[in-house]
Amino acid sequence: MAEGTQRRDETDPVLVIIPTYNERENLTPLVQRLHATLPQVDVLVVDDGSPDGTGELADELAAADDRVHVLHRTEKAGLGAAYIAGFHWGLDRDYRTLVEMDADGSHAPEDLPRILAALGDADLVIGSRYVPGGSVVNWPLRRELLSRGANIYSRLALGVPVNDMTAGFRAYRREVLGKLALGEVASHGYCFQIDLTLRTDREGFTIVEVPITFTDREIGESKMSSSIVREAFVLVAAWGLRRRAEQLRALLRRLR
Ligand code: GDD
Ligand code: MN
Repeated sequence: MAEGTQRRDETDPVLVIIPTYNERENLTPLVQRLHATLPQVDVLVVDDGSPDGTGELADELAAADDRVHVLHRTEKAGLGAAYIAGFHWGLDRDYRTLVEMDADGSHAPEDLPRILAALGDADLVIGSRYVPGGSVVNWPLRRELLSRGANIYSRLALGVPVNDMTAGFRAYRREVLGKLALGEVASHGYCFQIDLTLRTDREGFTIVEVPITFTDREIGESKMSSSIVREAFVLVAAWGLRRRAEQLRALLRRLR
């Protein structure tokens, strides 16, 4: 664990950030399941002006429950931008742990206690599909191949020892996010997850993967698109070249 960070305490305030775009039917059952599992956590819904009224529904949930908060953004600007806004909101308050979770039920709230427990010995805990004990349920084969391929490609390009770098179920200590220069993060799509994993590793923080079962959504649609895949492909290549150049420079310095 990085120097200066303290062990997580069970009573430390936790913020679960849930980005939403057209998740009207998924949101209420998810928040209910989450609070049934962990009654003390706060929730921040970050909605990008969903045409289906998810934002208004989130306002209703927030009016009825002071553990629920909502951040409204005007247009669909990608998962990365939504999370950055959510992180700033949480860092401006006294949360010690910031959690990322999808709104569609793919991430089981019942797995969150194990993820939070693992934060006792880590700075970032990733709920991982691709470690022993982890799995994916109901994903079409081509989607699983895309995800596994993205992880193999990222690992080869970046050399970060993480098996599920695109995972979207994770818990960060606030000290990590406070140190990551969030203002410089430019990735919009799902490669945002790879981007933050790389930045966390580069700062010397400890990353631990905890196995989870990822279950494909039953309601609504995935926002995955070809432009998200293209962005990831190009950016990971660029980050990889930069990282390899950094490693080479460090090696040459040692040899001199
Ligand atoms: N606010 C906002 N803005 N939310 C968004 C946006 C956006 O532009 N795009 C997606 N979301 C929200 C969705 O509403 C959902 O709650 C969550 O982000 C994940 O989006 P999905 O569209 O359900 O993602 P997926 O199931 O295809 O992808 C899963 O696998 C990816 C690759 O492994 C997720 O777990 C991703 O986080 C992961 O990177
Ligand atoms: Mn999903």
